[in-house]
Amino acid sequence: MAGQIPQRFIDDLLARVDVVEVVGERVQLKKAGRNYSGLCPFHQEKTPSFTVSADKQFYHCFGCGAHGNALRFLMEYDKLRFPEAVEQLASRLGLEVPREGADDPRAQARERKRQEGVNLLELASSFYRERLRMPEGQSAREYLARRGLSEEVQRDFGIGYAPNDWEALKRHLSAREIVEAVQVEYGLLVQREDSGRTYDRFRDRVMFPIRDVRGRTIAFGGRVLGDAKPKYLNSPETPVFHKGRELYGLFEARQANPRLERVIIVEGYMDVVALAQYGIRYAVATLGTSTSEEHLSRLFRMVNEVVFCFDGDKAGRQAASRALETVLPQMIDGREARFLFLPEGEDPDTLVRREGREAFEDRITCASPLSEFLFDQAARGRDLARVEERERFASQVLKAASRLPRGMLQTVLLGELARRTGVDQSRFEALLARDEGVAPSLAEPNVAPAASSTGQEVVGHVPPAKGASLGLVARVLQLLVHEPALVERLPGEDDWCPEGDGDAALCRELVRLLRAGRYRSPQVVLAHFQGSAQGERLALLARREMLIPRDARAQELDGLIEHFRRHQRRPSCQEQIDALLAKQRSGERLSPEERQRLMTLLAELGS
Ligand code: CTP
Ligand code: MN
Repeated sequence: MAGQIPQRFIDDLLARVDVVEVVGERVQLKKAGRNYSGLCPFHQEKTPSFTVSADKQFYHCFGCGAHGNALRFLMEYDKLRFPEAVEQLASRLGLEVPREGADDPRAQARERKRQEGVNLLELASSFYRERLRMPEGQSAREYLARRGLSEEVQRDFGIGYAPNDWEALKRHLSAREIVEAVQVEYGLLVQREDSGRTYDRFRDRVMFPIRDVRGRTIAFGGRVLGDAKPKYLNSPETPVFHKGRELYGLFEARQANPRLERVIIVEGYMDVVALAQYGIRYAVATLGTSTSEEHLSRLFRMVNEVVFCFDGDKAGRQAASRALETVLPQMIDGREARFLFLPEGEDPDTLVRREGREAFEDRITCASPLSEFLFDQAARGRDLARVEERERFASQVLKAASRLPRGMLQTVLLGELARRTGVDQSRFEALLARDEGVAPSLAEPNVAPAASSTGQEVVGHVPPAKGASLGLVARVLQLLVHEPALVERLPGEDDWCPEGDGDAALCRELVRLLRAGRYRSPQVVLAHFQGSAQGERLALLARREMLIPRDARAQELDGLIEHFRRHQRRPSCQEQIDALLAKQRSGERLSPEERQRLMTLLAELGS
């Protein structure tokens, strides 16, 4: 029975393995100075932004922000749980993984429960599959045949049948010594509040196992064979199933093609399996929720192209707007998002059956790129011949553009916006830059957004999107992370750094470290702060592109410092002298620094 792995062992392990070796076995690395670099395995890219530091035993991707140590890498790359990653590293060194409190009854119980959960769902899954093949599964087999699903696809997706019986699964599992409470906990049984009686949740339904990326069954969706309600029934949230996170069909898509490049997101189980039936084995479905940030970041780690598929009706367009909002911040260079609208009354299942694979794939190929969808949406219902309407159109596009990461897509989008509105592109760029707080030459860097009388934002006052605005101290941090050597340009004392800015403390800390001289590359700086909230903040800033050419950075930094100085009310020479003299008079001793400072001030005053 496995208990906790002692932290000492993990530390020791990390000290003995080499992250460069672990990563190097899976990613082609080239030596680049003190570090190694290569193409990031966690997002698609053409030029390497993935670095591995032997000194710091740490990897970091400047493209997608993936970072961590050897254990983290194994967990992410090989999709391992933490203890499994530890096991794997230990076995490289021929070490046995020790467990703490192996005979602590509570740890034992915890572990037993976890195992039970996994086993239990696998047991249920094979139970449902077997029942589909038995005489009682005949109506379900007929139903699946009517829906045109081959046995091959049924097998690939592990489709089964829950018999029309209140206790079939319960009897099956209880005979295997699985206590009822656990069956309830994992959503297989329902427990009545009043009597406490339990019964099978899924009855007389076609069963779709929902698997995690590693293929372990974590939940089920069940469909009635006829028109009864509810049409679909899903497992509730359980210790292993979180609806907003999982994608139906992702495991199966990766099975069909480990080098998956594109994924299409559809609505339903049947859409996924019908498309697979027709050879389109890269469809996934959210489980009755809208596409979340987490869904997308997971997908973009595996593929560089995501196609959203929607109904052609109003609800479909609304869903598409939500998807657009969610995907914007994730559109780093090299990624692609497109929007496919189906004819009204069709879903991918009905359409692929009617038109066949090629026609459906043609639709995918012709799906609107993100920019096109964005422009169409902003122009919808607007008469662009009218100045005011054009202004709102531009405002809406600009607002979306401000949520994009710095990069080609944003630039191209602004170019296109300029073309369509006849306004100079540099004008839009200035507006965006101002809202990011990156233009110290402007008198008021973070003006509050103004609204027009209709409540619509007008061009020129596009409010910074949540999370998109960057304070001025943050910009200093960003410059320093990208180019630590810039620290030499800063004034000797940190008094320029405005108090009250959320990043001030971090900024002073970073400056102190850089001054101490050991940190000369971004990775090492990030490694130093890794694991802390400050580390998160710096990594976030490091991920953002700099927007300005390298040789303009020093000048910008000077500009920022100058700006801080101007806006700071600092005690005058005379005030400082008075303060020091007052201190001395009160009988307190001045420190040597203070005495020196007093001398200097007096000299300055005299000159
Ligand atoms: N759904 C659900 N509960 C329901 C209805 C729908 O969870 N009562 C989810 C399911 O994931 C389903 C998806 O929403 O697959 C889409 O629903 P719908 O369009 O109604 O179903 P289809 O996938 O078209 O299913 P079918 O073709 O079998 O009718
Ligand atoms: Mn359908």
